[in-house]
Amino acid sequence: MAQVKRIGVLTGGGDCPGLNAAIRAVVKTAIYEHGLEVIGIEDAFLGVVEHRMRPLTARDVSGVLTHGGTFLGSSASCDPGRLAVGTNSRGETVYEDRREECASHLAQRGIDALVVIGGDGTMSVASGFVRLGVNCVGVPKTIDNDLVGTDVTIGFSTAVEVATEALDRLHTTAMSHHRVIVCEVMGRNAGWIALHAGAASGSDVIVIPEIEYDLEKVCDYVRDRSRHGKRFSLICVSEGARPRGGERTIRDMDHDSPDPIKLGGVGEVLADDIQERTGIDTRAVVLGHVLRGGTPNGADRVLATMLGSHAVHLLMDGAEGRLVVMNKGEVGDRELISAANKQRFIEAETNELIRAARSVGTSFGD
Ligand code: F6P
Repeated sequence: MAQVKRIGVLTGGGDCPGLNAAIRAVVKTAIYEHGLEVIGIEDAFLGVVEHRMRPLTARDVSGVLTHGGTFLGSSASCDPGRLAVGTNSRGETVYEDRREECASHLAQRGIDALVVIGGDGTMSVASGFVRLGVNCVGVPKTIDNDLVGTDVTIGFSTAVEVATEALDRLHTTAMSHHRVIVCEVMGRNAGWIALHAGAASGSDVIVIPEIEYDLEKVCDYVRDRSRHGKRFSLICVSEGARPRGGERTIRDMDHDSPDPIKLGGVGEVLADDIQERTGIDTRAVVLGHVLRGGTPNGADRVLATMLGSHAVHLLMDGAEGRLVVMNKGEVGDRELISAANKQRFIEAETNELIRAARSVGTSFGD
């Protein structure tokens, strides 16, 4: 095993609060504790392809703990194993595998190992490099909280907090105007954000991808509340939700992306259906990328610091191809490849929060 002297760090996939905190933890741990050199790679793996890498000092990460976004930039669509390089005569996109070239770019920079801060798509790209012999250690981030093998990912807690605050605000205006307000939150095919923010805000109905909703049941619930003097309802719906026997609402397709399906719009669909069936004035609000922006909360800063720092310790202990995880409050690690291109869903039958929410009268539209 070659001794690690210089590491690269990158952030991949959709951004989230806490990425800068994680980069800071990696850089400071590497320099202060292990005397390593650190190279920051811009825009995820695109920076490896395009040779956009620069040395990072402790001073470069001083003050970034509280900042939203990622100062290294990110790219959700760059997979050097399937890089879009142009179009052919029929107008079709041409893809090339540029991983060998990327591995040699890293070697030219003297990078012995990479810390890859990302979600399942980024871990999948990193796995391809691990197979080529490039050592990568993953740090889990995504507001969706859907990475396999870890209880929690960087960015989730802040996203839940922001969604909860928005729902609280929607609650009072829904009440004043005797309306139904449907609030759509991100999360891809997992309902973690909707479940947690919905429960935290006391949403009357929580609609998640893991439980297909029955439109009639949702409408009955809203009507029933009206009959009992609650002339408003707050509904938190996850973007990946679908009606019983129906389809998800797709906003767009991005065929160059490892994650081509762009979800969005189910809130509007649900709001229109409720208004049509109940006659109650109904509005839809989409929180979208608001959940990914801005300063990380305390929990995400702490998580990013612990996971980022642990990634460097792992590398120094000789680990290869590992993913840092947090389970039951303890930091650990598992095979990076095990988290590639998979998602962690809510187990609706056994989830304790669903059970508790049902106990206090929340409907899941089923
Ligand atoms: O995975 C994070 C996420 O924000 C999802 O919740 C959402 O579906 C997706 O990314 C949005 O992607 P984009 O930034 O391409 O719109």
